[in-house]
Amino acid sequence: MKQRAQFTTKIGILAATVGSAVGLGNIWRFPYEAGSNGGAAFIFIYIISVCVIGIPVICCEFIMGRGTHKNVHGAFNALHASSLWKYASYLNILASLMILSFYSVVAGWTLNYLSEAVTGKMTMTGEHDFSAEFGNFVASPWQPTVFTIIFLMFNHVIVARGIKKGIERISNTVMPILGVILIVLMANSLLLPKATEGLRFLFYPDFTKITPSVVLSALGQAFFSLSLGLSCLLTYSSYFNDRTPLVKNATMIATLDTIVAIISGIIIFCALFSFDGEPAAGPKLVFEILPGIFNSMPGGYFWAVLFFLLLVFASITSSISMTEISVAYFSEEYNISRKTSTRISTAIGMIFGALCSLSFGILNDFTIFGMSLFSLFDYISSNILLPLGGLIFTIFVGWIINKRFVQEQLTNNGQIARKSSKIIIFLIKYIAPIAIVVVCLSVLRVI
Ligand code: TRP
Repeated sequence: MKQRAQFTTKIGILAATVGSAVGLGNIWRFPYEAGSNGGAAFIFIYIISVCVIGIPVICCEFIMGRGTHKNVHGAFNALHASSLWKYASYLNILASLMILSFYSVVAGWTLNYLSEAVTGKMTMTGEHDFSAEFGNFVASPWQPTVFTIIFLMFNHVIVARGIKKGIERISNTVMPILGVILIVLMANSLLLPKATEGLRFLFYPDFTKITPSVVLSALGQAFFSLSLGLSCLLTYSSYFNDRTPLVKNATMIATLDTIVAIISGIIIFCALFSFDGEPAAGPKLVFEILPGIFNSMPGGYFWAVLFFLLLVFASITSSISMTEISVAYFSEEYNISRKTSTRISTAIGMIFGALCSLSFGILNDFTIFGMSLFSLFDYISSNILLPLGGLIFTIFVGWIINKRFVQEQLTNNGQIARKSSKIIIFLIKYIAPIAIVVVCLSVLRVI
């Protein structure tokens, strides 16, 4: 039998998993969610969600992936063959392709904005109406769709090259650059005239702003940002070796991902307050408000190029991780080559990505349950399939599979102290599933 691929170094493992977590979720979604949900109060709840739900769910995925060295379907089968559990894997694969489709649309927008920043169009002097420009761009029949497809082509080339030469190599190259860009942009924002107002908004919580809907948004954001509930980290961890410390890695991913989200918040809000932008602008924050700020900021050309480069880099290391879920499934379960399975996933991504992209323009009137295809994919996957996937992982690992197996995975067969694993198991069994059920029911508006 062909030997299964593995990541080659500790740094490679960290770069790939943090690369999966750090993406549009941190730089595009987190600031607008925080902005619309009261700033610091939202961040406070977000951090609690990451600790009590995020880290335990990452550990569940790691236990299943590293413990079996299989794709999600194979992992469910290997751990509990004669049951309905394997259908949970279909849910994961379906959701991963849905997320890949709409994620590539937003990633395509960032490619377009990067090209506008590089060519100087964004920071050109003269009258600009960035809201109208964004509206016209997303509604145009071909431009955003072409960028979606170009993005998926980059994505394809990396994934098709495999774990070592594709995913690990690109993550090792891009993640350090991403770190440097983040720090440079943060320093620039902190030096802006009203930076302290931005910091106040981010770090001075007004607890009266915490409402059930703020809690829900924070939980949903934690799932999205940490790449949870889709078996993304399960699939990556199936390429870990048996010495990789699971709890330590889970904690590191969660910590680094949260730090990046907060740095993005600093970059955006210090600039926003200094140039009188509206923090509660929603999803268009990065695409309509920021270009205006770069346009009026000294050295705007440089900062705009850096910022959109950051977005493109962050999205590619995330999209490859979504693609790997179905690629691993197709190639291992149907015994086809990696190249062919990547082609299948890319083709599905391109077809549905193009449809999602067109749903802002010519397919605008085509709605399902009153939502455009883009919103529907976003809604079903982020609000329903991710938390449901997370719930299934915690119940499966906490209650169904062999307890000794869970212990052995968390402690690497007794080589790592048991204390942290005890806390994690408690969170997996009780706290995380209960909290997720509350989220699911509230999303479905049952409670
Ligand atoms: N976490 C990534 C981000 O913040 C997106 C992502 C990658 C993701 N893989 C995922 C989201 C799996 C949900 C599930 O942009």
